Amino acid sequence: MKKIIAANWKMNKNSQEAAQTVQELSAILNNTLPEKREVIIFPSFISLEASIHAAPENTVLQFGAQDVYPAKDGAYTGEVSPSMILDAGASWVLTGHSERRHIIKEDNAFVGQKTSFALASGLNVVACVGETLEEREAGRLYDVLSEQLNQTLAKLPTPLSPERLVVAYEPVWAIGTGKTAGSEDIIEAHAIIRELLKDIIGTSVFQTRILYGGSVKPENAAEILKLENVDGLLVGGASLKADSFAKIICA
Ligand code: 13P
Repeated sequence: MKKIIAANWKMNKNSQEAAQTVQELSAILNNTLPEKREVIIFPSFISLEASIHAAPENTVLQFGAQDVYPAKDGAYTGEVSPSMILDAGASWVLTGHSERRHIIKEDNAFVGQKTSFALASGLNVVACVGETLEEREAGRLYDVLSEQLNQTLAKLPTPLSPERLVVAYEPVWAIGTGKTAGSEDIIEAHAIIRELLKDIIGTSVFQTRILYGGSVKPENAAEILKLENVDGLLVGGASLKADSFAKIICA
C-alpha cells in the first residue's frame, strides 16, 4: 500500500505562486516518486486550475480541493460542487478539516453529507478527524473520534474501493502550533481509528489509509511515517515551500 503525502495549502498562495510551487516541486521530483509514495496537493479553489496546468504532462502529482458543497448545482452562493472540482481536473477533496469544523462551524452531520456526496459524485476523499486539547484532557479522545468517524462515514456509497477514502488524524492542538503529537499519542489515536473503521467499513479496513497531520516537518516526517497504522502525512505549513515538502515526500 502506497503512503500518501498530502499538502494542504489552506488560504495561501495566489495562482501564480501556486503554479510556481508546483513547477519547483515537479523539477525536484523529476517526475519520479520514491517507491510507495503518492502525492496530493490541495491548493485553494481559485488556484486549483493554475496548479494543475503547471504540472508537467506526465506528472506524478495528484490534486484536490479543500472543501466541497454536497449538492449537484443550484442556489448555494459561494459554494463549489463536486462536478466543478472534477471539471477543474482535480480528483480529491478534503472534508471535515478542523479549521472548517472550528472556524466555519461545520458539524459532524454536514461533514458526513459532504463526504458521502463527494464520494458518490466520483471524488476521492480525505476525511479529517481530531480532538481539541480540552477534549483530550477531559479523557474524551475515543468518544470524539467515534462521533466524528461514525457521522462522517455514516452513508458511504457502496461498493467503494478502499483507496478512494482516506482518513486523516489531525489533533487540533498540534495544527500550526509547532507541537507535534508524540509517537505514543499518534499510535494510540491511529489504533482507535483503525478499530472504529472496522465496525464502519468492515473487512477492507486494512486497506484504508490513515494519515497523520499536525506540525509535520522534514525533521520529524521519517519518524512519524514509521509508526504503526500511519499510512501517510497531511502537511500544512511545511508543504508551502517545494524543497521542504519534497524532503517530507522523500523522508
Ligand atoms: P500544519 O502542518 O501547519 O500544522 O497544518 C496541519 C494541517 O492542518 C494540515 O491539514
